[in-house]
Amino acid sequence: MSLLADVRSLVAPALAGYPDPADLLLLVKPAADAKNGDFQANMAMALGKKLGRSPKDIASEIAGRVPTGGMVQSATVAGPGFINLRLSDTWLADRLHSLTAGDRLGIAPTAAPRSFIIDLSGPNVAKPLHVGHLRSTVIGDALVRLLRFLGHTVVGDNHLGDWGTQFGILLYGYKHHRDDGAYAADPVRELARLYVHVRNLAKVVGDEDEGTGDVMEACRQETAKLHAGDPETVALWQRFMPACLDMLTPIYDRLGVRIDHALGESFYNPMLPGVVADLLATGVARESNGAVVVPNAKGVVPEAGDTTEEPPALVRKRDGAFTYTTTDFATIKHRAETWQPDAMLYVVDARQALHFRTLFANARRWGYDRVEFQHVMFGSILGKDKRPLRTRDGGVQELLPLLDEAVEVAARKYRQSLDDRRASGREAPELSAEEEKQIAEAVGIGAVKYADLNQNRLTDYVFDPDRMTTAEGNTATYMQYAYARCRAIIRKAGGGPTGAAVALGHPAERALALQLLRFEDALLAAAAELAPHQVTAYLWDTAKALNGFYENCPVLTADTPESKASRLVLVDLTARTIKAALGLLGIQTVERM
Ligand code: ARG
Repeated sequence: MSLLADVRSLVAPALAGYPDPADLLLLVKPAADAKNGDFQANMAMALGKKLGRSPKDIASEIAGRVPTGGMVQSATVAGPGFINLRLSDTWLADRLHSLTAGDRLGIAPTAAPRSFIIDLSGPNVAKPLHVGHLRSTVIGDALVRLLRFLGHTVVGDNHLGDWGTQFGILLYGYKHHRDDGAYAADPVRELARLYVHVRNLAKVVGDEDEGTGDVMEACRQETAKLHAGDPETVALWQRFMPACLDMLTPIYDRLGVRIDHALGESFYNPMLPGVVADLLATGVARESNGAVVVPNAKGVVPEAGDTTEEPPALVRKRDGAFTYTTTDFATIKHRAETWQPDAMLYVVDARQALHFRTLFANARRWGYDRVEFQHVMFGSILGKDKRPLRTRDGGVQELLPLLDEAVEVAARKYRQSLDDRRASGREAPELSAEEEKQIAEAVGIGAVKYADLNQNRLTDYVFDPDRMTTAEGNTATYMQYAYARCRAIIRKAGGGPTGAAVALGHPAERALALQLLRFEDALLAAAAELAPHQVTAYLWDTAKALNGFYENCPVLTADTPESKASRLVLVDLTARTIKAALGLLGIQTVERM
């Protein structure tokens, strides 16, 4: 039950007879300023210009045709021709009451389900997960949850980098620098050590694995042997893989992320020769100087030295090696054949924009022209120096220590808050050490995720555990407190509401009710734009409405039993909405804090 959709259907007949009524309808929006009403409709100005009439007259005409008495209480005209709609209090109260039934807060699964493949996380597995894949994992997981909740079919697929240069590094390290005792005792740890050690030897900087020099060259040769199917090398690769995957598990567990499939690059390896042959046969790819290339997104293979055009992409190098792009073609084919999805979404760093532009354009030429392809890109995570996050020695920042740091900060601050509350005679729950630990974990991990999702995806942001866990401001911590506070009130009232009628006597009650009824619209906007920050923005508005409510509307000490019961319904629905919204972001709530 999208509130916006319902308002629009009510207004639609009033627009009949005007040019392009469907477009006009999109101008019906939530009010920019709640003082003016609940929704606004600003089409009269443009219509006035088009029709050579007074916008004010047009606005009055439209407003006069909007039926009132049911959902809408009043449609009025302000200024040069703004139409302001105010919903009826009783209608709002009834609608809100209907949310109490069922466990979906009134949000029915979409009537137009689509199927999505979401390509997320995609770490390169021969090394510990580093910060570069946090965003793909967290944003991708939120999109999986969101689209699924809305009733779409979603397959999450982790396109592991399990076949690339980083394995060459491991193979080289294993052959020349391994510590047998250490490997026998803990292969995961030893491989992680070897990886870092060889990268240091090869003087690799950054996370692109592009080192130079003899060591790096030797590593490349190991990779080439692997790709050529050298039995000894492949056997080692097979031995390493379980250990490599074991390095990932604790991080996914910690983040609470489960991905349906993990079809890595190696899975597609046997398909690559066929894919290139088919790309050639269908005229998508062509030979060029002994290599095989696909044209750029415009369909052009530019002349050597032409810098005005985007470059083509290699699908087979002169030495016969296949590439990241070849694998991605095979992946598209496999996904299309296995799942027949309506859309494939790639939650991958913005730095790969060119790769995906070229890939998608050529996939369409190859025949996958009915699938929607989207590169859901995102910016970088920066250190406090506003530069890409690195360890102190300039190495790649691993993820686990960052999560630990956030949880530590969360634990420290939480302890402090308990102490402060006790010292000033305020309420603070008595918790076991175990409970306190769980809260710190939920708060710390939640903080990291929320800080990420709260950004417009494309913006870079600074990783700052202290700010992420502040209890004032739009953070997970703040929302988790808001939730726990609602739950505390309900506990004190002796349990959940009993289906009491909702009365919206106070403006703050009404504002909160309206905000709760906007939940579905926020989720639809987030899904349409693949923008989880629409959900955090919604949470923030909800928290503000909740504060207004708390300031003005005592719950447990309300004047009448009816008012108390009604307010409990509001508190309960708010708690459920916050929990659901955080849940869609993959963030936990705790019952008391
Ligand atoms: N492993 C890649 C990287 O770290 C990301 C994979 C993204 N997915 C894909 N289908 N290309 O850059």
